[in-house]
Amino acid sequence: MNWREFWNGDHAIYVNARHKALHYDRIARDIVALLPGGAVVALDHGAGEALAADAVARHCASLALYDAAPTVQAKLAQRFAGDARIRVLDDAALAGLDDASLDVVVVNSLLQYLTREEFAALLDFWRAKLKTGGRLVVGDVIPPDVGPVDDVKALMRFALEGGFVVAAATGLVKTFFSPYRKLRQSLPLTTYAEADMLALIAAHGFSPQRADKNIGHNQARMTFVATRG
Ligand SMILES: C[S@@+](CC[C@H](N)C(=O)[O-])C[C@H]1O[C@@H](n2cnc3c(N)ncnc32)[C@H](O)[C@@H]1O
Repeated sequence: MNWREFWNGDHAIYVNARHKALHYDRIARDIVALLPGGAVVALDHGAGEALAADAVARHCASLALYDAAPTVQAKLAQRFAGDARIRVLDDAALAGLDDASLDVVVVNSLLQYLTREEFAALLDFWRAKLKTGGRLVVGDVIPPDVGPVDDVKALMRFALEGGFVVAAATGLVKTFFSPYRKLRQSLPLTTYAEADMLALIAAHGFSPQRADKNIGHNQARMTFVATRG
């Protein structure tokens, strides 16, 4: 199994419905805070189920959602069928986006599942699709010194605040025996040091900065905001 297959199948990354809802609410709020303002045309690349994408779309002229997993694409298409501002993209629609048509690209919690080469290719893709001066937001990037123990600590803090501690503890035990853990051992997540990210993004024609806070609950990870030159 690879990461793409993992995300396309049934998984228990979210310990219960409350965890999933709180996760997507939180990232929607954090994404809104990083939008440049105005009637922006935005793309969320690797959107996952994006349960709160409507809250982001309210701050955009339009919001395109793309996820590589066909099962996730189908759920997104069903969930947002009635929302005039949200367009769910399949692979062909993503590839067919006009050059220089986007004001913002948001990419959250995706890089760890890609190789460096895949990320580099996506930087060129996003540069082509963004307008000059457009914004690229890359969140939840894992530094090399942050590992599963830090993820557990961050999850338990989030669970404590969100009132799902028992489910989180049970979920962690399940994760220990799950395909996620085995996959994380056999296909380690890709990590980046801050300086490495800044250099890589800059090398692809952007002016990047690290944001003060990470998108989402795990503050051991990093978010970068870059302007397309
Ligand atoms: C950890 S989830 C992140 C979802 C959401 N952005 C969030 O922050 O909660 C990673 C998502 O990336 C998707 N994904 C994996 N590889 C991808 C790729 N090459 N292009 C686009 N999406 C991809 C997976 O299907 C999965 O839904």
